Amino acid sequence: MLEFKGLTKQFNSTVAVKPATFTIPDGQMVGIIGRSGAGKSTLLRMINRLNEPSGGQMLFQGRDITALKGRELRQWRNECAMVFQQFNLVGRLNVLTNVMSGRLFHHGFASSMMGIFTAKERAFAIRALDRLGMAHVALQQTDTLSGGQMQRVAIARALVQEPRIMLADEPIASLDPLNAKVVMDALRAINREDGLTVICNLHTLDTARQYCDRIIGMQDGVIVFDGTPKDLTDRAAREIYGAEAEEAFSEAMTSTALRPQPVAQPEARVVN
Ligand SMILES: Nc1ncnc2c1ncn2[C@@H]1O[C@H](COP(=O)(O)OP(=O)(O)OP(=O)(O)O)[C@@H](O)[C@H]1O
Ligand SMILES: [Mg+2]
Repeated sequence: MLEFKGLTKQFNSTVAVKPATFTIPDGQMVGIIGRSGAGKSTLLRMINRLNEPSGGQMLFQGRDITALKGRELRQWRNECAMVFQQFNLVGRLNVLTNVMSGRLFHHGFASSMMGIFTAKERAFAIRALDRLGMAHVALQQTDTLSGGQMQRVAIARALVQEPRIMLADEPIASLDPLNAKVVMDALRAINREDGLTVICNLHTLDTARQYCDRIIGMQDGVIVFDGTPKDLTDRAAREIYGAEAEEAFSEAMTSTALRPQPVAQPEARVVN
């Protein structure tokens, strides 16, 4: 269980997250929604302490996460795997090496950088790739992959960390609808099969509604909605998004909703 007790973040004069108090039980898939600048990334990044909270407390299984330092903090960061919009992979390395870099904490930096991994670790990485349908490209250079494939590799890397929580900051915002669906399906499968807590910032409503057990809506640093997809009526959603409501409702934006494609017309033949 992850407990937030008045957790807040201020950047100079901006209060990005106003004191937030809520609890996330183990195994929940949570979507955080809200317009740009609402504080979604800041909230997520406080969980793994990439953003240092300005006040309040966060507990995981009763342990004070906000007080961790040094090796304990590094260990906690390893336990919160994070997936980013821009994948954060090393393009010139092959897929397998990128995935195995998720073992860095377990393995020690020096031997990881020299590419010294045990057979067991390689097998573990291959299995993670296989779960994401990506084992066949294990030896391919990473920058030859499509965006959707790269995000699946990033999820495999997160999995080999053996995390206790998976954080994802707009994991599908750079993907087309088909790839977005594949990536969200993968996150949901990991959540269900492993019972792993997944906390995910999402831009579009339909994706949050379709995939999450619980939706948290933020507005100007305040949690203004916390409920199930069913609770989130269109009216409530419009209030969360304010002037950006039309964009959030638009399925054309990074949505996982696949609409029927127009039937391809036969190409016009050039007649000389
Ligand atoms: N490092 C920083 N320094 C100063 N201000 C920051 C910093 N990071 C975020 N902010 C401010 O905090 C507020 C919340 O930003 P945050 O990135 O958390 O929003 P967001 O909901 O993730 O937005 P988006 O949907 O655009 O990603 C914004 O006003 C932003 O300008
Ligand atoms: Mg953000």
